[in-house]
Amino acid sequence: MSTPVKKVPIHLQSSQNRLLIKNGKIVNEDNIIEDDVFVEDGIIKEIGRNLIIPGGTRVIDARGKYVFPGGIDPHTHFEFEFMGTTSVDDFYQGTKAAIAGGTTMIIDFAFPKQGESILDAYYSYREKADSKVCCDYGLHVALTSWSDQVKQDMSILCSHHGVNSFKTFMAYTFMLNDSELYSVFDHCKNIGAIPQVHAENGPEGHEMSRPEEVEAEAVNRACTIAHQVDSPLYVVHVMSKSAGLAIKQARERDVRMIGETLVAGIACDGSHYRNPCFSHLAAHILSPPIRPDNTTPQYLMNFLAQKAFAKFFVDQYTFVVNSPLCIDTVSSGLTADVIKEKRSLGQNIYGTVYVSNLALVGNAQNATTVTTPPIRSNPDTPAQLLGYLGSNVLQVTGSDNCTFNKSQKEMGMKDFSKIPNGVNGVEDRMSVIWEKGVHSGIIDPMRFVAITSTNAAKIFNIFPRKGCIAVGSDADIVIWNPNKTRVISAKTHHQAVDYNIFEGMECHGVPEYVIVSGRVCVDEEQLRAVQGHGRFVETPVYPAYVYDPEKLAHVRAAKNGTLNEVELSNKLAKIELE
Ligand code: URP
Ligand code: ZN
Ligand code: ZN
Ligand code: ZN
Repeated sequence: MSTPVKKVPIHLQSSQNRLLIKNGKIVNEDNIIEDDVFVEDGIIKEIGRNLIIPGGTRVIDARGKYVFPGGIDPHTHFEFEFMGTTSVDDFYQGTKAAIAGGTTMIIDFAFPKQGESILDAYYSYREKADSKVCCDYGLHVALTSWSDQVKQDMSILCSHHGVNSFKTFMAYTFMLNDSELYSVFDHCKNIGAIPQVHAENGPEGHEMSRPEEVEAEAVNRACTIAHQVDSPLYVVHVMSKSAGLAIKQARERDVRMIGETLVAGIACDGSHYRNPCFSHLAAHILSPPIRPDNTTPQYLMNFLAQKAFAKFFVDQYTFVVNSPLCIDTVSSGLTADVIKEKRSLGQNIYGTVYVSNLALVGNAQNATTVTTPPIRSNPDTPAQLLGYLGSNVLQVTGSDNCTFNKSQKEMGMKDFSKIPNGVNGVEDRMSVIWEKGVHSGIIDPMRFVAITSTNAAKIFNIFPRKGCIAVGSDADIVIWNPNKTRVISAKTHHQAVDYNIFEGMECHGVPEYVIVSGRVCVDEEQLRAVQGHGRFVETPVYPAYVYDPEKLAHVRAAKNGTLNEVELSNKLAKIELE
């Protein structure tokens, strides 16, 4: 059995196949450097200064702008037959809108129809998508039932069709029960795949009928099951504080929990559900819902801001930048605040924090913990410092783009449980996260790149082809002008849907150029996406990000008490966790 052969897209005209991006600030997850990028035939060929470039190469001047890897949206539902209707953004319009916003790859979900095998669902999605996609795409496969056949087909999808992730449901009519989840997670572990879970305990309904408690309970239960069978687990669309906290706790027990949140959760709260206008409230219906507690968006953003919990143990950590000045031993929240402020003003400063300052409060100090500057007596300091380093509760942002027009939402006019679930976000995800994360000072551009692109590439095992600006990587590149602003509106967006849940939001940062496999598809803000330009990207099993055996061996040894914290910290310091 083999994957349907995809024609090589009519690539670039020879005069168009070379591109030089000059003078930009290249942002990867771990550094920012000023360099030029040379692209040829869809691949990044060289990075550096004074590159010798063939005549006729197009040059884009990116001075004062950021150059970062195109976004990867790991969660979309294009032309999805769901709740009696079909989502209006199809693989053409959906990927076109993605590109307009700076996303150059999406991962959708092949969903079996009633009675259809998952293998056939995969084929049918390939058929729908292959000729339409404007950018590269991958597929997760949804498991809506469990049987030996499903199990066999999962293995085939992994070994022959470039699928490495399967979504299970703890809600909706097609939810799996706990013992089925055990079997799925266990099988995923055996074949090196990533089990994903829609974690909600409950029947159909909306916020009132599915408060955050039922989300947290389901997250907790799914994490427990994954921990029992020793599989990794990817929790999709984490929408509440309690669910985030449940993941945090699970990550402290097991490093292989991955949390995804949605732009809808970062930008909107549940007050929309009290809007007297049916179309307004219905447009905001998704599952799990946005939460009535209006501090939730900020919480979710903070969960994303944070870095690997294991780094707590690493005795030296730097806020990495291209910097001539290093403040050694940032021991207080105040110093950290100063560094943050300078950095937000563009100054090249970085700080080093020691684990003692993170773990201890001054009044607990004894002879063995004397350091200079001292461990602070302010009991809030460790938390403040940790706030900067954090615990990496959530690693990925998706859109869960699953759009229905006003008329489709009206199917639920008399019965809210019949409102087709889903919102927009594939186009605006990058802007909203930049605005709420970078512009508001919670994360730096490197973390932005990690949570919008790199982490997804690592988790789904397509790094470093995707998710970074590096020689040999696909030329999926965004040139981002942080000084321009735009206002989001359904009137100007490129999606098919007639509503935008971020309507009126002003965002700093505009994708002036978006390069998709070497082709300039947003050119001075003008969208020129090309139908069929995208390819299916195979996602291989056993991603090192979640399956790295060395990392796991150390963490297990620590859990079993055979390594003390210092030994653990030394080992972990050597292992790239992020
Ligand atoms: O409401 C949502 N999220 N719709 C899409 C289907 C799903 O559960 O991801
Ligand atoms: Zn879901
Ligand atoms: Zn979804
Ligand atoms: Zn609204």
